[in-house]
Order: sequence, then structure tokens, then C-alpha cells
Amino acid sequence: MMNVNSGSEAIPLVDLRAQHEAIREELHAALERVLGSSRFIGGEEVSAFEAEFASYCGTSYCIGTASGTAALSLALEACGIGPGDEVITSAHTFVATAEAIEHVGARPVLVDVDPATRTIDPAKLRLAISGRTKAVIPVHLYGHPAELGEIQNICERYGLLLIEDAAQAHGALYNGRRVGSVGRVGCFSFYPGKNLGALGDAGAIVTDDAAIAAKVRMLADHGRPAGSKYEHACVGYNARLDALQAAVLRVKLRHLDSWNARRREVASLYGKLLAGQVSTPLAASWAEPVYHLYVVEVPPEAREHVRSQLSRVGVATGIHYPLPVHLQPAFAHLGYRAGAFPVAERLCQGVLSLPMYPELRVEQVHYIAQALLKALDSVPEHGRA
Ligand SMILES: Cc1ncc(COP(=O)(O)O)c(C=O)c1O
Repeated sequence: MMNVNSGSEAIPLVDLRAQHEAIREELHAALERVLGSSRFIGGEEVSAFEAEFASYCGTSYCIGTASGTAALSLALEACGIGPGDEVITSAHTFVATAEAIEHVGARPVLVDVDPATRTIDPAKLRLAISGRTKAVIPVHLYGHPAELGEIQNICERYGLLLIEDAAQAHGALYNGRRVGSVGRVGCFSFYPGKNLGALGDAGAIVTDDAAIAAKVRMLADHGRPAGSKYEHACVGYNARLDALQAAVLRVKLRHLDSWNARRREVASLYGKLLAGQVSTPLAASWAEPVYHLYVVEVPPEAREHVRSQLSRVGVATGIHYPLPVHLQPAFAHLGYRAGAFPVAERLCQGVLSLPMYPELRVEQVHYIAQALLKALDSVPEHGRA
């Protein structure tokens, strides 16, 4: 095996240092600009980023928020969802999706995922609708768009709001449309490791609905209506996007498409090298994914062995996620039992995230794929998936 690395996880899961090195000058100029203006809350950088990201997504409005979790909570509250309401989402997601539903006092109703796309299964979603259901939050997990057309049909039929959790899918396309722009509201996270990441916590909502945009803006800014300083129309939050993060995001947004294209190349190379030997992610006919994560599936009993073998040869891996939402202690009160969502549960036992970032070199992808196949071969009783 080619020795591009030796021990101690020399190929990380995500390499932000490499990304920042490549755009160092642009980032410094942006940070200097904000320091020079001394306008850290609101101001031109925030409104410019909002306009640029709305235009990128193809929506009329973008409102920056303090995080992706805040974007989801504020979107739900702005849509009038609260106590007594049910919101349907995926059992296989980062907990923030379900947390946001709890934050507004509504009840998360979980649904299993489709094994191929790892996103909410529309047929099962239909069965979870009750008289209390107000909204559906599909999650474009790992950067792969959920089956939005089908989900939208169901939402229209039953009068439900469609709120997209696009935290992992900046720039992904559903039948040629940017995710986040299809539902009533799209919610994004700019957590540093995301495809479009800030240098700290940040998020945004996008929408074509002027009333929802105004409400999210007001809620995120202590309930202040636009233009007022000490008038507070409702009890809000401090959940704004700040100017330093906005300036950084403006720089990175200019690179997003080329970074996503590079992620797709890396994914396609992994796919070729692992084909027929490991279960690799698929792209549905409607999807142009952006591979926030590259998640393969290995036999559950072999996963720890594979991870430690990879770690030994310098390849970091991740598990997204070890537990589905319904088996997390924080959500025990929802009353779901083990076995309730077999696809999500099976995925959680076998998923393995391989290094994925635009700066990953071709020889590194070869090295990782070879190391994975070798690790699987060294599991005596199992072999490859
Ligand atoms: C699917 C999903 N939803 C929501 C969030 C929450 O975003 P944040 O960490 O910015 O609050 C994340 C990110 O971590 C996520 O991956």
C-alpha cells in the first residue's frame, strides 16, 4: 500500500485548515473590513450576505440566525407552531431537528428513512399524519436531497407546512432547484464543518414568504420590529447572525459551487474504488447531492475493528449517528421503543463516515479506499459488506 500517511489519523474527516489556507487573503480582508467598520451586530455585511445567499438559493428572502438550531426553532415559531401541535421529521438526523420542535413546545413525530437515500420515507410519512400534525421537516441528510416532490404533494393534500432542514446540503439540487427553496422555509446551519461554514456558530432561513421572513427577523432580534430600537412587539430571542460571520460567509459562498463540485468528484472516485465491495451512497434520480458526509455501510459487528484499523494507518472516520433520535435519552419521553424505526436503527449500527472535503487529494482517496477494503478483509468471519 502506498504510504501517504503514518499513524495518528493524518487524514482527518474534515480539513478546515486546508480550506482556510487556500482563501487566507480573502478571509483576512473580510475580517479587516469588519474590524475597520466596528459594526459587529447587523449592518452591511449581514444584509449583503443575506441578499447573496437568498439569490444563491433562489428565494426572495434570507434571514441570518445565530445557528442552524435557531433557524429551525425560529422558523417553526414564525409559522405559528407551538404547544399541542405535532411536527413530523426523520428518526435519522442530528438531534437539533427534533430539539427545535421541542423548543417551540410542539411534539416531534418521528418517521423512518428510506434505506437508499437515508432521508424520510414519504410512504411512512403519510401514515404518521394525525389531526394535530402541522408541519413536516424533511432533512437532506449527508447532503442528499429528500424526495421533496412527493413530500410536497403530501403536505398540500393534508394542509401541512413544509420546512426543509438543509443544514447539511448547501447548494444541493432537487430536480434542478436548490434545496431550502422548495418548502415554505428552508433552514441552514453554517457550523464550521458544514459545506458552507462560518468561523463559529451561524445559520439562516430562506423563504419567499415576506411575513415569515419579517417574523423570523423580529424573533431573532429581541422581538424588535424592523427599524425600531426600543419597541419590542413580541418576546423574542437574541439569535442574530453577527457581522464577522457574515463577512466570512460572503467569502466562502463564492467558493461553494467549486467546493461542492470537488466533493462530487471525490464521492465518484470513492464510489468507483469501492463498487461491489462496500455499500456506498447512491444519488436518487431527482438529486444532485453535495456530499457533506460520505457515508458507507459496513457490517455492524465489524465497524469498531474497521475504525481502529483505519485509525492505525492514519485515516479518521466518524459515525453519523450512533443512535437514532428515538433512542436518545433526551427523547425517551416520546415513548418510542427499540425496533420502532428499523431502517434508522440499522443505519446507526453500520454507518461509517470516510474523510470528505474538497481539498482531499486523489492519492489520498485511493489510500483511504484501499485501507478500508484491507480492514474489511481482516475481519475474519465477515469479509466485505
Ligand atoms: C441536520 C442538521 N440539522 C440541524 C443542525 C443544527 O445546526 P447548528 O449546529 O448550526 O445549530 C445540524 C448541524 O449540526 C444538522 O446537521
